[in-house]
Amino acid sequence: MSKLIISGQNRLFGKVSVHGAKNSALPILAATLLCDGTSVIHNCPNLLDVNAAINILKHIGCNCTFENNTVTVAVNKLCCNQIPSCLMLKMRSSIIFSGAILARCGKVTISAPGGCELGPRPIDLHIDALKRLGADVTEKHGFIEFNAKQRLVGTEINLSFASVGATENIILAAATANGKTVIHNAAKEPEIQDLINFLNKCGAQIFGGGTDTITIYGVERLYGCVYTVIPDRIVATTYMAAAAVTGGEIMLKNVNPSHLKAINSVFEESGCTVECNENSIYIKAPVRLSRVSTIRTTIYPGFPTDAGPLVLAMLSVSNGTSVVVENIFENRFRYVDELKRLGAKIRVEGRVAIIDGVDMLSAATCKCTDLRGGAALVIAALNAKGKSVIGDIEHIKRGYENIDYNLSLLGADIKEI
Ligand code: EPZ
Repeated sequence: MSKLIISGQNRLFGKVSVHGAKNSALPILAATLLCDGTSVIHNCPNLLDVNAAINILKHIGCNCTFENNTVTVAVNKLCCNQIPSCLMLKMRSSIIFSGAILARCGKVTISAPGGCELGPRPIDLHIDALKRLGADVTEKHGFIEFNAKQRLVGTEINLSFASVGATENIILAAATANGKTVIHNAAKEPEIQDLINFLNKCGAQIFGGGTDTITIYGVERLYGCVYTVIPDRIVATTYMAAAAVTGGEIMLKNVNPSHLKAINSVFEESGCTVECNENSIYIKAPVRLSRVSTIRTTIYPGFPTDAGPLVLAMLSVSNGTSVVVENIFENRFRYVDELKRLGAKIRVEGRVAIIDGVDMLSAATCKCTDLRGGAALVIAALNAKGKSVIGDIEHIKRGYENIDYNLSLLGADIKEI
């Protein structure tokens, strides 16, 4: 397993370009298999999860190429409707392939998906929704088989939780279903809107993206198109937090500031200067970060759960005590024990983390527990005095393209071994 070696205390300065959104590229790649012909997806980040998605597409019979952040998918004759568990386990997003394969092939067999261990990550909302769209579901020996004897049929679906993945899975299954589907209590994340924009460009009839009611009028066929994925708002947050903990001053290019409203206000409250332009964000850190009022993670457009670890790492070197309440996942604080090795003073009580800011962290050896928890360790190590070693960085590579190279361009002393 490779590691990152980081010698902290270097002030970050300069410009960084933010890559495309992982959580947008993944459902859009799943959507390409619904389309006849060829889809060309630009601004696709080169990540382990994107490679896993491409392998699933290839496994079921699509022709895929990936170069210079562009994925080209040609759907000819799909030859397989089973996603092998080795691919299912690589990431959480594999579950949203089930809706697309079921819609296209009438049958799909999957095993429980993988992804970050953030507490139990059930898929009951996905299974119930596909059942309501007309699939018969049988679970045996750890596999789940969805069977639709005829074309899926549109229906009304009330989500008990505004699940991002379940919303995406329903959209993928319903886009070519017979009739109208309405999703109530739908997720409103920008990545959902991006998926809808892609599908509508392919000929779908989907309305209400960004609201909690999404209406999908099923169409007979979809045709591949050329599309560009939105920027990754969580990667943008990561670089902002890196600048904040090093007293830095950076310009982020290729971002959509409107996707970071709840995040930017936290950085401003901590004393950072944040200036937004059409597709860039300039951030300048104060000499010393201040504590902020309680952060409660929630669904979009509230403060996103994925930004929690990044801001918590930043607050560990602020002046005063801050509180982060994690309302989305049951156990998202596994990385805190690793942060404490670097000298952070954090108490976790259930879903609440209390952070007593310290002047400076101190280098240590630690290891990633999950994707954003790993990014939090990088942020902390950039502040820590001395040379830190971060292990199990494959977690980070699932969601960050060239993070070491980009941080070194900004002045960080960081290298992968
Ligand atoms: C997506 O995960 C993202 N992943 C996550 O990002 C993100 O944290 C999450 O949405 C919330 O924004 C991708 O898009 C690939 P959910 P997802 O369904 O779809 C419960 C990252 O770092 N739930 O909105 O799995 C679930 O247990 C990752 O990029 C059910 O109970 O999130 C959780 O408590 C981490 N039953 C809550 O809903 C279900 O059937 C949120 O889950 C589905 C979900």
